[in-house]
Amino acid sequence: MMIKSHNFYFKKILFLKKFNKKLFKKIGEKMLLTKEEQEMLKGKYGNAVKKSMEILVALGEIYGAEKLIRVSSVQVAGVSYDNLGESGLEYLSNLSKDGRVKVLTTLNPAGMDLENYEALGISEDFAIKQKMVIDSFAKMGVITTCTCTPYLIGNTPNFNQHIAWSESSAVAYANSVLGARTNREGGPSALASALTGRTPLYGLHLDENRIAKIKIIVKTQIKGTQNFGALGKVIGEKIKSTPCYIIGINEASMEELKSFSASIATYGGAGIFHMENITPNKTVIPLEELIVTKKEIEKALNEMNMGDCEVDFVSVGCPHASIAEIAKLADLLNGKKVKKEFWITTARPTKKIADMSGYSKIIETAGAKFASDTCCVVAPIKGRFKCLATDSAKGCYYAYSKNQSKIKIMSVENLVKEACKEPSVVK
Ligand code: F3S
Repeated sequence: MMIKSHNFYFKKILFLKKFNKKLFKKIGEKMLLTKEEQEMLKGKYGNAVKKSMEILVALGEIYGAEKLIRVSSVQVAGVSYDNLGESGLEYLSNLSKDGRVKVLTTLNPAGMDLENYEALGISEDFAIKQKMVIDSFAKMGVITTCTCTPYLIGNTPNFNQHIAWSESSAVAYANSVLGARTNREGGPSALASALTGRTPLYGLHLDENRIAKIKIIVKTQIKGTQNFGALGKVIGEKIKSTPCYIIGINEASMEELKSFSASIATYGGAGIFHMENITPNKTVIPLEELIVTKKEIEKALNEMNMGDCEVDFVSVGCPHASIAEIAKLADLLNGKKVKKEFWITTARPTKKIADMSGYSKIIETAGAKFASDTCCVVAPIKGRFKCLATDSAKGCYYAYSKNQSKIKIMSVENLVKEACKEPSVVK
């Protein structure tokens, strides 16, 4: 999820347009643009392309990019109507009048499951607006699979490919685990890249900004998505967005790496990390080093475990659950009944595989619910639940800061046990 970054770029662009018309008149003078790009900027290819080029060139000039480069894949955040509001919807519907994407483009989670929103308690009024947002994207040719793990459903770039993604966890995963190259885009700039097939050449597209500057020595064994999330929190808070080289992790599953990517991006703003013997990018090994101890991991877990709350909401799938995570949940829930609201958030194509494999039937018979296309953070559920239990450090951060819910972090096994506990009677 990219709430902050999306709004940040959106506001920056509006600010520039309103108060610095001079800059916009001269836009494109500082960057080397091809003939085609200049024509795009002048409006030869329509209004949406013109507006998109204005955004990309303005960003490029702010960040000192010498030129635009082609991208092969885009992932757009800022999809939930809860975050976009009326102004965002109007912005998208204007672009959809003549804008069509040039490259493979998918969406971040929306504010609701597009097919099953009633069962999750989403109002009809919200659903109407959310569908209008999705329709605008669809009109532009965006594939409307709403997921923060596009790399699990076919929007999977190769090593060294330039892309423009906006979901922070996916950005860290793409740069670090896949070895692709992307900045952490805001929603409007990612969409601008989709409509032009371009992005400015700066930041994490350049070798020099991908090199590790700090070595992190992990002195304790890390296992499980909740503990990899805690590790991301500890490192993120220590080094913020500085690229790091992590040693001491012997093995990490895809699920653990996606949890870690989400957490280091949330708590530190990192767009790239390197993990010895695990991630593929080459980097120099920095001299400056920091140590992460078992005590620090325990402290981070304690901070995400608020004692004074009784869990009334359990959620797995932040970032969106893989089919392996769903298979594990089916195994754990087989023959049981959950007593609390339990959401498994995942991409719709992954849910379809779960249907085909029989996992969905087991999970739904136990009373847990799938929430495809959305998640427990972007759905409009503020105030509905008092205490969320999850295995995601990122989920904890936003449940507390955005939805003002209390939080508990635990392993998936313990989440299932928690969900099956009888809630205490409220007097
Ligand atoms: Fe994805 Fe929502 Fe978590 S967008 S990373 S499931 S907060």
